[in-house]
Amino acid sequence: MPIRTCIFDAYGTLFDVTAAAREAASDPAFPQLTDTWAALAQNWRQKQLNYSWLRAVVGAHVDFWQVTQNGLDWSLEAAGLDGDAALRQRLLDLYWELSAYPEVPAMLRALKDAGYQTGILSNGSPAMLAGAVDSAGLGAVLDDVLSVESVGIFKPAGAVYDLVCQRFGGTPAEVLFVSSNGWDAGCATGYGFTTAWVNRAGEPVDRLPWRPVHQLSDLTPIPEIAATA
Ligand code: LAC
Repeated sequence: MPIRTCIFDAYGTLFDVTAAAREAASDPAFPQLTDTWAALAQNWRQKQLNYSWLRAVVGAHVDFWQVTQNGLDWSLEAAGLDGDAALRQRLLDLYWELSAYPEVPAMLRALKDAGYQTGILSNGSPAMLAGAVDSAGLGAVLDDVLSVESVGIFKPAGAVYDLVCQRFGGTPAEVLFVSSNGWDAGCATGYGFTTAWVNRAGEPVDRLPWRPVHQLSDLTPIPEIAATA
């Protein structure tokens, strides 16, 4: 079925979630990150996601900014850096202005020029997403930015994926859903989207009942995948 709409996960897919810790580590004001930033970034991301799933399972929703801070606090303590208020604030500030991966602007422009509807579907709160989209200058190449806050549960709940066809029309199979998170791409396949998993790190596929339809190492081929899916 032809693709009409291309929808992107935000954190880790369009925006580099390791950039906050990496950029802070390059600042001479934070030498305590020189050897610890990579592990800190990995723990931060994993705890942020774990807390989102646990809160979804038990029905204790808070917004993604809250679980992002909770994940950071766990990771700072694990690195022996809890109590470093200046570092904590710097990392949180950087999270609001994460860099987009370099191929993102041209890829989205190519999709718009080819006539596709484009959007983000993210766990992020509307304010976090607005900050990231603005600082990356992506507003003109996205038709909409959809946040889980309108349904009050995190991915991969079906109510989140429902937001796409409610906003853009069509059927799930006419949506190319793109995520760097293997669990998100797999569960979105189960939902019925045509999916592409951006597997930059060459990770094994998640052992879920559903697999991503396409697998790629960066976002460059997305316009071609949309045209031939
Ligand atoms: C998001 C997270 C899952 O943007 O990366 O939804």
